[in-house]
Amino acid sequence: MPTTPDRDAVAAPSENVRLRSTLESLPAYVPGKPAADDGVRRFKISSNESPFPPIDAVREAAVTALEGANRYPDAAAQQLREKLGGEHGVEFSQIALSTGSVAVTGDLVRAVVGEGEEVVFAWRSFEAYPILVGSHGGVGVQVPLTEGAEHDLEAMAAAITDRTRLVLLCTPNNPTGPSLSTEQVEDFLARVPDHVVVAIDEAYREFHDPATVLGTAGLFRRHGNVVLLRTFSKLQGLAGLRIGYAVAHPRLARALSQVTVPFGASVPAQAAALASLAPAAQEELAQRAEWIRSERSRVLAALAAQGWELPASQGNFVYFPLGEQSPAFAEFADARGLVLRAYGTEGVRATIAEQEANDLLIEIAGAWRER
Ligand SMILES: Cc1ncc(COP(=O)(O)O)c(C=O)c1O
Repeated sequence: MPTTPDRDAVAAPSENVRLRSTLESLPAYVPGKPAADDGVRRFKISSNESPFPPIDAVREAAVTALEGANRYPDAAAQQLREKLGGEHGVEFSQIALSTGSVAVTGDLVRAVVGEGEEVVFAWRSFEAYPILVGSHGGVGVQVPLTEGAEHDLEAMAAAITDRTRLVLLCTPNNPTGPSLSTEQVEDFLARVPDHVVVAIDEAYREFHDPATVLGTAGLFRRHGNVVLLRTFSKLQGLAGLRIGYAVAHPRLARALSQVTVPFGASVPAQAAALASLAPAAQEELAQRAEWIRSERSRVLAALAAQGWELPASQGNFVYFPLGEQSPAFAEFADARGLVLRAYGTEGVRATIAEQEANDLLIEIAGAWRER
């Protein structure tokens, strides 16, 4: 028999519970703002999500997999890891899966960073980094981006000390958009001691111009301290299912498997990820990536014609480095039907989404300049 909660009971006090002191200095993760429910039609382009729903074959695979959801998933995710291993030319045991690449990044911190040891990353970058590092006991060393909103690899190399255990490179960088070239990363790696792990977070890789995209496979082969982070949340449109992975060298892959939450990748998430790797699905996804790239070029060209000078983005988003005016710009857009992501008084990010939203972004950005 279910018991009814005693609504008159006084809540038990919890002031005496001891929490880790680190939590006091941890920034809160600010998710993309949801659209307000006030009758104004709005596009939510604040979370770099795909404007497309999962493709049919992928949705069907996830739905079919739900029939077995009373069972735990295959903890080893053998089929998916074998497929991914094949894609990356590595053993299946070198693929570490979890509930999104954000979780895998957390696993990486727990696997290599001890209490008080340092993690170097660019800032501003993905806002989960300081939280993942700090909550696992590490110390974040934030290296400011250059004037052009790019990683300052010179300064990042100089920030590495005896206490550094991990470097996070985000390319294309969220939220600003510029990416790193193979040569830049190769030069950087030559300056990093080989006991320091360098994670290359390529959540937006598929949106990059294929002609100049980072040669990650070669970098991985040449450097035993490089780990690749990938997600199914962006191009594959599985953000709501939560699945991402790392490609790691055997020692690190084993370490990741030691610290990860067991059964992280759920039954439908594994099935959907596997289905999205089938050739027909890959082809459809490649077309979507191409469409996003052409929309990004169209938006950036239209904004440049209005006089905007924005960083050259290779992600599915564009960044307005508006400084103090950032909150006002986000409000201006919100009132006109677009929910953007403002980063304090630094800048505002807008996701490239459905064509109507992109058209509206151009219109709003133009109206802002003429106000
Ligand atoms: C740079 C970067 N890395 C990782 C992620 C996390 O992706 P996932 O949904 O797989 O956790 C995001 C999501 O926004 C991101 O921007």
